[in-house]
Amino acid sequence: MPGPADSLLVRALRGERLDRPPVWFMRQAGRSLPEYRDLRVGTRMLDACLEPSLAAEITLQPVRRHGVDAAIFFSDIVVPLRLAGVEVEIQPGRGPVFAEPVRTADDVRRITAISPDAVAQAAGPIREAAALVVAELAASGTPLIGFAGAPFTLAAYLIEGGPSKEHLRARAMMHADPESWHRLAGWLAAVSAAFLAAQVEGGASAVQLFDSWAGSLSPADYRAFVAPHSLSALEPMLGSVPTIHFGVGTGPILADMRLGGRVDAVGVDWRMPLDEAAALLGDATTVQGNIDPALLQAPWPVLEAHVLDVIERGRSARAHILNLGHGVPPETDPAVLTRIVALAHGETA
Ligand code: CP3
Repeated sequence: MPGPADSLLVRALRGERLDRPPVWFMRQAGRSLPEYRDLRVGTRMLDACLEPSLAAEITLQPVRRHGVDAAIFFSDIVVPLRLAGVEVEIQPGRGPVFAEPVRTADDVRRITAISPDAVAQAAGPIREAAALVVAELAASGTPLIGFAGAPFTLAAYLIEGGPSKEHLRARAMMHADPESWHRLAGWLAAVSAAFLAAQVEGGASAVQLFDSWAGSLSPADYRAFVAPHSLSALEPMLGSVPTIHFGVGTGPILADMRLGGRVDAVGVDWRMPLDEAAALLGDATTVQGNIDPALLQAPWPVLEAHVLDVIERGRSARAHILNLGHGVPPETDPAVLTRIVALAHGETA
Protein backbone atom coordinates (compact mmCIF):
# COMPACT_ATOMS: atom_id res chain seq x y z
CA MET A 1 0.00 0.00 0.00
CA PRO A 2 1.36 3.45 -0.84
CA GLY A 3 1.70 5.81 2.15
CA PRO A 4 -0.20 9.12 2.38
CA ALA A 5 2.69 10.98 0.72
CA ASP A 6 2.01 8.92 -2.45
CA SER A 7 -1.79 9.18 -2.19
CA LEU A 8 -3.85 10.40 -5.13
CA LEU A 9 -4.70 13.57 -3.15
CA VAL A 10 -1.08 14.55 -2.56
CA ARG A 11 -0.10 13.64 -6.13
CA ALA A 12 -2.93 15.82 -7.50
CA LEU A 13 -1.77 18.65 -5.24
CA ARG A 14 1.74 18.28 -6.65
CA GLY A 15 0.21 18.74 -10.10
CA GLU A 16 0.33 15.18 -11.33
CA ARG A 17 -2.24 14.37 -14.01
CA LEU A 18 -4.12 11.27 -12.84
CA ASP A 19 -6.48 8.79 -14.52
CA ARG A 20 -9.22 9.79 -12.09
CA PRO A 21 -9.57 12.64 -9.60
CA PRO A 22 -9.28 11.90 -5.88
CA VAL A 23 -12.57 12.72 -4.12
CA TRP A 24 -13.48 14.02 -0.66
CA PHE A 25 -16.24 16.34 0.61
CA MET A 26 -16.07 19.49 2.68
CA ARG A 27 -18.14 18.79 5.83
CA GLN A 28 -18.12 15.05 5.09
CA ALA A 29 -18.00 14.57 8.88
CA GLY A 30 -21.07 15.87 10.63
CA ARG A 31 -24.80 15.97 10.70
CA SER A 32 -25.52 14.12 7.43
CA LEU A 33 -24.25 10.96 9.21
CA PRO A 34 -26.54 9.19 11.74
CA GLU A 35 -23.44 7.71 13.43
CA TYR A 36 -22.20 11.29 13.99
CA ARG A 37 -25.51 12.43 15.46
CA ASP A 38 -25.41 9.43 17.83
CA LEU A 39 -21.87 10.17 19.03
CA ARG A 40 -22.55 13.88 19.58
CA VAL A 41 -25.55 13.37 21.91
CA GLY A 42 -24.83 15.21 25.16
CA THR A 43 -21.55 16.83 24.03
CA ARG A 44 -21.31 20.43 22.88
CA MET A 45 -19.64 20.99 19.51
CA LEU A 46 -16.47 22.69 20.80
CA ASP A 47 -16.12 20.21 23.66
CA ALA A 48 -16.30 17.37 21.11
CA CYS A 49 -13.48 19.05 19.15
CA LEU A 50 -11.21 19.00 22.22
CA GLU A 51 -11.86 15.33 23.13
CA PRO A 52 -9.15 13.51 21.11
CA SER A 53 -10.72 10.05 20.83
CA LEU A 54 -14.13 11.53 19.94
CA ALA A 55 -12.70 13.98 17.36
CA ALA A 56 -10.65 11.15 15.83
CA GLU A 57 -13.63 8.79 15.62
CA ILE A 58 -15.83 11.48 13.99
CA THR A 59 -13.04 12.22 11.48
CA LEU A 60 -12.88 8.53 10.52
CA GLN A 61 -16.65 7.93 10.15
CA PRO A 62 -17.04 9.30 6.60
CA VAL A 63 -13.84 7.56 5.46
CA ARG A 64 -15.23 4.20 6.54
CA ARG A 65 -18.71 4.82 5.20
CA HIS A 66 -17.98 6.49 1.84
CA GLY A 67 -14.45 5.33 1.00
CA VAL A 68 -13.37 8.90 0.24
CA ASP A 69 -9.73 9.50 -0.78
CA ALA A 70 -8.99 11.81 2.17
CA ALA A 71 -10.06 12.46 5.75
CA ILE A 72 -10.68 16.06 6.87
CA PHE A 73 -9.87 16.70 10.51
CA PHE A 74 -13.02 17.11 12.62
CA SER A 75 -12.77 20.48 14.34
CA ASP A 76 -13.89 24.05 13.65
CA ILE A 77 -12.31 27.29 12.49
CA VAL A 78 -12.97 28.88 15.92
CA VAL A 79 -11.22 26.11 17.91
CA PRO A 80 -7.84 27.94 17.98
CA LEU A 81 -9.62 31.01 19.41
CA ARG A 82 -11.10 28.83 22.15
CA LEU A 83 -7.57 27.50 22.78
CA ALA A 84 -6.38 31.12 23.07
CA GLY A 85 -8.93 31.62 25.86
CA VAL A 86 -11.49 33.61 23.83
CA GLU A 87 -15.08 32.97 24.93
CA VAL A 88 -16.88 31.38 21.96
CA GLU A 89 -19.68 28.85 21.49
CA ILE A 90 -21.15 27.20 18.41
CA GLN A 91 -24.93 27.53 18.47
CA PRO A 92 -26.63 24.65 16.63
CA GLY A 93 -28.26 25.85 13.41
CA ARG A 94 -26.57 29.24 13.74
CA GLY A 95 -22.78 29.02 13.99
CA PRO A 96 -19.99 30.60 16.06
CA VAL A 97 -21.06 33.24 18.61
CA PHE A 98 -18.60 35.32 20.68
CA ALA A 99 -19.42 36.59 24.18
CA GLU A 100 -17.56 39.85 23.44
CA PRO A 101 -17.40 41.10 19.84
CA VAL A 102 -14.08 42.78 18.90
CA ARG A 103 -15.10 46.15 17.49
CA THR A 104 -12.96 49.02 18.80
CA ALA A 105 -9.22 49.72 18.71
CA ASP A 106 -9.16 48.87 22.42
CA ASP A 107 -10.92 45.53 21.81
CA VAL A 108 -8.31 44.73 19.14
CA ARG A 109 -5.44 45.67 21.47
CA ARG A 110 -6.87 43.48 24.23
CA ILE A 111 -7.32 40.33 22.14
CA THR A 112 -4.02 40.66 20.26
CA ALA A 113 -2.19 40.92 23.60
CA ILE A 114 -2.79 37.15 23.93
CA SER A 115 0.32 35.43 22.60
CA PRO A 116 -0.34 33.04 19.68
CA ASP A 117 2.09 30.75 21.53
CA ALA A 118 -0.80 30.13 23.95
CA VAL A 119 -2.57 28.31 21.08
CA ALA A 120 0.45 26.11 20.38
CA GLN A 121 0.73 25.31 24.10
CA ALA A 122 -2.97 24.44 24.46
CA ALA A 123 -3.10 22.43 21.22
CA GLY A 124 -2.18 19.08 22.79
CA PRO A 125 -5.66 17.59 22.17
CA ILE A 126 -5.46 18.66 18.50
CA ARG A 127 -2.07 17.00 17.99
CA GLU A 128 -3.28 13.92 19.81
CA ALA A 129 -6.54 13.61 17.81
CA ALA A 130 -4.68 14.05 14.50
CA ALA A 131 -2.13 11.41 15.51
CA LEU A 132 -4.93 8.95 16.41
CA VAL A 133 -6.51 9.47 12.97
CA VAL A 134 -3.19 9.09 11.15
CA ALA A 135 -2.43 5.86 13.03
CA GLU A 136 -5.83 4.42 12.02
CA LEU A 137 -5.38 5.47 8.40
CA ALA A 138 -1.85 4.11 8.07
CA ALA A 139 -3.04 0.71 6.82
CA SER A 140 -4.94 2.22 3.87
CA GLY A 141 -2.56 5.10 3.10
CA THR A 142 -5.48 7.57 3.18
CA PRO A 143 -4.17 11.08 3.88
CA LEU A 144 -5.50 13.41 6.59
CA ILE A 145 -6.20 17.02 5.61
CA GLY A 146 -5.70 19.62 8.35
CA PHE A 147 -7.48 22.98 8.10
CA ALA A 148 -7.88 26.43 9.57
CA GLY A 149 -10.01 29.51 9.02
CA ALA A 150 -8.44 32.37 7.08
CA PRO A 151 -8.04 35.69 8.93
CA PHE A 152 -10.89 37.44 7.09
CA THR A 153 -13.47 34.69 7.65
CA LEU A 154 -12.53 34.49 11.34
CA ALA A 155 -12.63 38.28 11.66
CA ALA A 156 -16.07 38.33 10.02
CA TYR A 157 -17.39 36.30 13.01
CA LEU A 158 -15.26 37.94 15.68
CA ILE A 159 -16.01 41.57 14.78
CA GLU A 160 -19.72 40.94 14.23
CA GLY A 161 -19.91 38.69 17.31
CA GLY A 162 -21.67 35.98 15.28
CA PRO A 163 -22.78 35.02 11.76
CA SER A 164 -23.64 37.86 9.35
CA LYS A 165 -24.65 38.12 5.71
CA GLU A 166 -22.38 40.78 4.25
CA HIS A 167 -19.74 40.99 6.99
CA LEU A 168 -20.16 44.75 7.00
CA ARG A 169 -18.42 45.44 10.30
CA ALA A 170 -15.25 43.55 9.31
CA ARG A 171 -15.13 45.25 5.91
CA ALA A 172 -15.80 48.63 7.56
CA MET A 173 -12.88 48.25 10.00
CA MET A 174 -10.44 47.89 7.08
CA HIS A 175 -11.23 51.45 5.99
CA ALA A 176 -12.26 53.11 9.25
CA ASP A 177 -9.23 51.92 11.24
CA PRO A 178 -6.73 50.13 8.98
CA GLU A 179 -4.14 49.92 11.74
CA SER A 180 -6.50 47.94 14.01
CA TRP A 181 -7.60 45.79 11.07
CA HIS A 182 -4.03 44.80 10.18
CA ARG A 183 -3.16 44.17 13.82
CA LEU A 184 -6.20 41.88 14.25
CA ALA A 185 -5.77 40.06 10.91
CA GLY A 186 -2.06 39.51 11.60
CA TRP A 187 -2.88 38.04 14.99
CA LEU A 188 -5.58 35.77 13.54
CA ALA A 189 -3.07 34.56 10.93
CA ALA A 190 -0.65 33.58 13.71
CA VAL A 191 -3.43 31.83 15.65
CA SER A 192 -4.56 29.85 12.58
CA ALA A 193 -0.93 29.03 11.73
CA ALA A 194 -0.47 27.51 15.21
CA PHE A 195 -3.63 25.41 14.70
CA LEU A 196 -2.37 24.17 11.31
CA ALA A 197 1.04 23.36 12.78
CA ALA A 198 -0.53 21.21 15.52
CA GLN A 199 -2.40 19.15 12.90
CA VAL A 200 0.72 18.72 10.75
CA GLU A 201 2.73 17.73 13.85
CA GLY A 202 0.03 15.09 14.42
CA GLY A 203 0.68 13.79 10.90
CA ALA A 204 -1.68 15.64 8.52
CA SER A 205 -0.48 15.27 4.89
CA ALA A 206 -2.01 18.51 3.49
CA VAL A 207 -3.81 21.60 4.79
CA GLN A 208 -6.77 23.65 3.58
CA LEU A 209 -7.31 27.31 4.47
CA PHE A 210 -11.03 28.17 4.53
CA ASP A 211 -11.74 31.77 3.55
CA SER A 212 -15.40 30.97 3.14
CA TRP A 213 -16.60 34.58 3.13
CA ALA A 214 -13.82 36.14 0.97
CA GLY A 215 -16.35 36.46 -1.86
CA SER A 216 -17.92 39.43 -0.05
CA LEU A 217 -14.79 41.54 -0.68
CA SER A 218 -13.96 43.74 -3.66
CA PRO A 219 -10.81 42.59 -5.47
CA ALA A 220 -9.01 45.78 -4.35
CA ASP A 221 -9.86 45.16 -0.67
CA TYR A 222 -8.99 41.48 -1.00
CA ARG A 223 -5.52 42.33 -2.31
CA ALA A 224 -4.77 45.16 0.12
CA PHE A 225 -6.33 43.95 3.35
CA VAL A 226 -6.71 40.18 3.20
CA ALA A 227 -4.40 38.20 0.87
CA PRO A 228 -1.14 39.09 2.71
CA HIS A 229 -2.58 37.85 6.01
CA SER A 230 -3.91 34.63 4.44
CA LEU A 231 -0.44 34.01 3.04
CA SER A 232 1.11 34.54 6.44
CA ALA A 233 -1.30 31.95 7.96
CA LEU A 234 -0.06 29.39 5.40
CA GLU A 235 3.56 30.48 5.17
CA PRO A 236 4.99 28.30 7.99
CA MET A 237 3.47 25.22 6.25
CA LEU A 238 4.89 25.93 2.80
CA GLY A 239 7.56 23.42 1.95
CA SER A 240 6.35 20.90 4.53
CA VAL A 241 2.85 19.96 3.25
CA PRO A 242 0.81 20.95 0.16
CA THR A 243 -1.88 23.63 0.58
CA ILE A 244 -5.45 24.21 -0.64
CA HIS A 245 -7.16 27.62 -0.47
CA PHE A 246 -10.98 27.76 -0.60
CA GLY A 247 -13.68 30.41 -0.60
CA VAL A 248 -17.29 30.87 -1.74
CA GLY A 249 -18.27 33.35 -4.47
CA THR A 250 -14.63 34.04 -5.28
CA GLY A 251 -14.93 34.25 -9.11
CA PRO A 252 -13.69 37.87 -9.28
CA ILE A 253 -10.69 37.12 -7.01
CA LEU A 254 -9.97 33.54 -8.07
CA ALA A 255 -6.50 34.25 -9.49
CA ASP A 256 -5.65 36.29 -6.37
CA MET A 257 -6.46 33.25 -4.25
CA ARG A 258 -3.34 31.61 -5.68
CA LEU A 259 -1.54 33.98 -3.26
CA GLY A 260 1.16 34.74 -5.80
CA GLY A 261 1.48 31.08 -6.79
CA ARG A 262 2.37 29.96 -3.27
CA VAL A 263 -0.65 27.63 -2.84
CA ASP A 264 -0.89 24.26 -4.60
CA ALA A 265 -4.66 24.19 -5.16
CA VAL A 266 -7.60 26.60 -5.19
CA GLY A 267 -11.13 25.44 -4.28
CA VAL A 268 -13.93 26.71 -6.52
CA ASP A 269 -17.61 26.98 -5.60
CA TRP A 270 -20.48 25.82 -7.84
CA ARG A 271 -20.98 29.18 -9.58
CA MET A 272 -18.08 28.94 -12.01
CA PRO A 273 -17.54 25.99 -14.40
CA LEU A 274 -14.21 24.31 -13.58
CA ASP A 275 -12.77 24.78 -17.09
CA GLU A 276 -13.29 28.55 -16.73
CA ALA A 277 -11.73 28.45 -13.27
CA ALA A 278 -8.77 26.45 -14.62
CA ALA A 279 -8.23 29.06 -17.36
CA LEU A 280 -8.12 31.82 -14.72
CA LEU A 281 -5.82 29.84 -12.43
CA GLY A 282 -3.30 28.78 -15.09
CA ASP A 283 -1.25 25.60 -15.31
CA ALA A 284 0.64 25.91 -12.02
CA THR A 285 -2.42 25.41 -9.78
CA THR A 286 -4.59 22.34 -9.10
CA VAL A 287 -8.35 22.97 -8.96
CA GLN A 288 -10.71 21.52 -6.36
CA GLY A 289 -14.50 21.36 -6.66
CA ASN A 290 -17.21 21.94 -7.59
CA ILE A 291 -20.34 19.77 -7.45
CA ASP A 292 -23.34 22.00 -6.66
CA PRO A 293 -24.58 20.98 -3.16
CA ALA A 294 -28.15 21.72 -4.32
CA LEU A 295 -27.91 18.85 -6.81
CA LEU A 296 -27.40 16.33 -4.00
CA GLN A 297 -31.22 16.49 -3.78
CA ALA A 298 -31.74 15.77 -7.50
CA PRO A 299 -32.68 12.38 -9.02
CA TRP A 300 -29.52 10.27 -9.50
CA PRO A 301 -29.37 10.54 -13.33
CA VAL A 302 -29.39 14.35 -13.04
CA LEU A 303 -26.70 14.35 -10.33
CA GLU A 304 -24.65 11.71 -12.17
CA ALA A 305 -24.59 13.80 -15.35
CA HIS A 306 -23.52 16.85 -13.30
CA VAL A 307 -20.69 14.95 -11.56
CA LEU A 308 -19.42 13.59 -14.91
CA ASP A 309 -19.54 17.12 -16.34
CA VAL A 310 -17.50 18.44 -13.38
CA ILE A 311 -14.92 15.66 -13.88
CA GLU A 312 -14.74 16.38 -17.63
CA ARG A 313 -14.24 20.14 -17.10
CA GLY A 314 -11.68 19.38 -14.40
CA ARG A 315 -9.51 17.71 -17.05
CA SER A 316 -8.59 21.13 -18.44
CA ALA A 317 -6.76 21.96 -15.17
CA ARG A 318 -3.24 20.70 -14.48
CA ALA A 319 -4.86 18.36 -11.92
CA HIS A 320 -8.30 18.11 -10.26
CA ILE A 321 -9.59 17.10 -6.82
CA LEU A 322 -13.30 16.28 -6.91
CA ASN A 323 -15.30 17.92 -4.12
CA LEU A 324 -18.46 19.94 -3.58
CA GLY A 325 -18.60 23.68 -4.25
CA HIS A 326 -19.27 24.13 -0.50
CA GLY A 327 -20.02 21.88 2.48
CA VAL A 328 -22.36 18.88 2.66
CA PRO A 329 -25.80 20.23 3.73
CA PRO A 330 -26.93 18.49 6.98
CA GLU A 331 -30.10 17.10 5.34
CA THR A 332 -28.13 15.22 2.65
CA ASP A 333 -28.84 11.50 2.24
CA PRO A 334 -25.38 10.01 2.92
CA ALA A 335 -26.04 7.19 0.39
CA VAL A 336 -25.84 9.85 -2.34
CA LEU A 337 -22.30 10.78 -1.27
CA THR A 338 -21.24 7.12 -1.27
CA ARG A 339 -22.62 6.82 -4.80
CA ILE A 340 -20.62 9.85 -6.00
CA VAL A 341 -17.44 8.30 -4.60
CA ALA A 342 -18.19 5.01 -6.41
CA LEU A 343 -18.81 6.92 -9.65
CA ALA A 344 -15.54 8.85 -9.32
CA HIS A 345 -13.71 5.59 -8.57
CA GLY A 346 -15.11 4.09 -11.77
CA GLU A 347 -17.16 1.50 -9.93
CA THR A 348 -20.70 0.81 -11.08
CA ALA A 349 -23.00 1.97 -8.30
O1 CP3 B 1 -16.12 17.47 7.79
C1 CP3 B 1 -15.49 18.55 7.81
O2 CP3 B 1 -15.48 19.34 6.86
C2 CP3 B 1 -14.59 18.84 9.01
C3 CP3 B 1 -15.11 19.64 10.02
C4 CP3 B 1 -15.41 21.12 9.88
C5 CP3 B 1 -16.40 21.73 10.69
N1 CP3 B 1 -16.36 23.08 10.51
C6 CP3 B 1 -17.26 20.99 11.61
C7 CP3 B 1 -18.54 21.60 12.03
C8 CP3 B 1 -14.83 22.14 9.13
C9 CP3 B 1 -13.74 22.04 8.07
C10 CP3 B 1 -15.43 23.38 9.54
C11 CP3 B 1 -15.03 24.70 9.03
C12 CP3 B 1 -15.92 25.86 9.24
N2 CP3 B 1 -16.60 26.22 10.36
C13 CP3 B 1 -16.12 26.89 8.28
C14 CP3 B 1 -15.48 26.92 6.92
C15 CP3 B 1 -16.18 25.97 6.01
C16 CP3 B 1 -17.49 26.47 5.46
O3 CP3 B 1 -18.48 25.76 5.68
O4 CP3 B 1 -17.51 27.50 4.81
C17 CP3 B 1 -16.98 27.85 8.84
C18 CP3 B 1 -17.50 29.10 8.16
C19 CP3 B 1 -17.27 27.42 10.16
C20 CP3 B 1 -18.13 28.10 11.18
C21 CP3 B 1 -19.28 27.22 11.52
N3 CP3 B 1 -19.18 26.17 12.41
C22 CP3 B 1 -20.60 27.23 11.00
C23 CP3 B 1 -21.12 28.24 10.01
C24 CP3 B 1 -21.28 26.15 11.58
C25 CP3 B 1 -22.68 25.65 11.26
C26 CP3 B 1 -23.70 26.01 12.27
C27 CP3 B 1 -24.92 25.14 12.06
O5 CP3 B 1 -25.30 24.48 13.04
O6 CP3 B 1 -25.45 25.12 10.95
C28 CP3 B 1 -20.38 25.51 12.46
C29 CP3 B 1 -20.67 24.32 13.27
C30 CP3 B 1 -20.07 23.06 12.77
N4 CP3 B 1 -18.76 22.91 12.38
C31 CP3 B 1 -20.72 21.80 12.69
C32 CP3 B 1 -19.76 20.88 12.24
C33 CP3 B 1 -19.94 19.40 12.04
C34 CP3 B 1 -22.15 21.53 13.07
C35 CP3 B 1 -22.25 21.50 14.55
C36 CP3 B 1 -23.09 20.37 15.06
O7 CP3 B 1 -22.96 19.23 14.56
O8 CP3 B 1 -23.83 20.62 16.02
